[in-house]
Amino acid sequence: MYIGIDLGTSGIKTVLMTDTQSIIASAHADLTVQRLHQGWSEQHPSDWVAAVDKTLRKLAASHPSDMARVQGIGLSGHMHGATLLDADGMVLRPCMMWNDTRAHQEASELDAIPAFRALTGNIVFPGFTAPKVLWVARNEPDTFARCAKILLPKDYLRYWLTGVYASEMSDAAGTSWLDVAQRDWSDTLLSETGLTRDHMPNLVEGSAVSGTVLPDLAASWGIQGTPVVAGGAGDNAATAIGAGIVQSGQGFVSLGTSGVLFAATDAYRAKPETAVHAFCHALPDRWHHMGVILSAADALNWHARIMGRSAPDLVADLGGNLLAPTSVRFLPYLSGERTPHNDAHVRGSFHGLSHDTTATHMTQAVLEGVAFALCDTQAALADIGSQITTLIAMGGGSNSDYWLSLIATVLGCDVLRPTDGDFGASFGAARLGLMAHTGANATEICTMPSIGKRFTPNDTLRPAFQDAYADYKSLYQSHK
Ligand code: XUL
Repeated sequence: MYIGIDLGTSGIKTVLMTDTQSIIASAHADLTVQRLHQGWSEQHPSDWVAAVDKTLRKLAASHPSDMARVQGIGLSGHMHGATLLDADGMVLRPCMMWNDTRAHQEASELDAIPAFRALTGNIVFPGFTAPKVLWVARNEPDTFARCAKILLPKDYLRYWLTGVYASEMSDAAGTSWLDVAQRDWSDTLLSETGLTRDHMPNLVEGSAVSGTVLPDLAASWGIQGTPVVAGGAGDNAATAIGAGIVQSGQGFVSLGTSGVLFAATDAYRAKPETAVHAFCHALPDRWHHMGVILSAADALNWHARIMGRSAPDLVADLGGNLLAPTSVRFLPYLSGERTPHNDAHVRGSFHGLSHDTTATHMTQAVLEGVAFALCDTQAALADIGSQITTLIAMGGGSNSDYWLSLIATVLGCDVLRPTDGDFGASFGAARLGLMAHTGANATEICTMPSIGKRFTPNDTLRPAFQDAYADYKSLYQSHK
């Protein structure tokens, strides 16, 4: 038996998987995000621990004999967060998360130092870890002075589970401290933020063993023995492992809180000015490209909150067939934007409202705005040499047929939704737990899911969507 734990922005999802890769149980626990000021986004690591413990207790209660046989655990988590610990391993302040953009000034300063783009292959985005730590050094100097270790969110869970300070390549690539081609911390980049290698956890590959669960914790969930904990992965690489996206030419689109267009690559290839992330994959000698929009399903949920209705209800109002584009445009930049704009200051907006505009038009505009933002990232990925012709659809938003046929039409490529099942980040994490325990070959384990539905571009409506996309693009320029 294997366990996969995904620390998501809105909650923990833990799955229990057999050695033949079927998920026999899963458990959830909710998490909230604290937004104390505009642009801030924080969670407290003690809430992660309590939530993971809750999911494991649920599984221990519902599946005691399966839990007793767990031999490997994999971890996945939202990326880029800064969790600062003192020399005794105590948390010094809440974790500043991936969509926290307060460190935009620090990010521009680090980005202007040529070594950052040269060694990491990426722009230093405000959401990445290094600028946040520089912000702490400047604004909370006492905290910075006491900081002895900096961990990514899922690596804090590992520390709690095993007592070991470790990270792996896919998540480490999003800190701005990793030499992404060499898969090692860069002393040069660490020293630019007043840090040394001692502040960093040790690095392992995602499918390798990072430690073993502490005996008392394992016993508290009825686990016999002390399972190994795999390196694991940042949530996007974990999703890719779960969806079997491990070779060049394979890709996925994810409609979670953030929106991601992900393409696996066999070699390191970077072009920072495209604002595409060039990161390590969670398997040795593999990398990936990724365009990230900061609000995807989050934009629809925001709209639903304002409308006082549920998101599925609003989308149901659009009917079963793809409609021609509305003349209302929505820019989904509620938290600023990463790919392709790298703009922490821009904010979302509706354009083209009139007396005829209805709530339904606005829902349509929100779905279209997210699809257009993904189209921007598709162009950026093409610029760096990752052409995508078929995408596996992942994340909560992929339950919507309307949204997927819209995305297929706007992107001009087939979008495939897996048959009902659990193929997300927690499944990918469980696969990494299995590989760490057995040493099994990645290509044998990381197969693609069976496909339930294929969404193809609507050729009749595609020209109208191309015009609407051109209009959308021009709006960012004038808005800016
Ligand atoms: C990736 C990113 C987000 C988070 C969300 O670079 O910031 O996708 O990982 O979970």
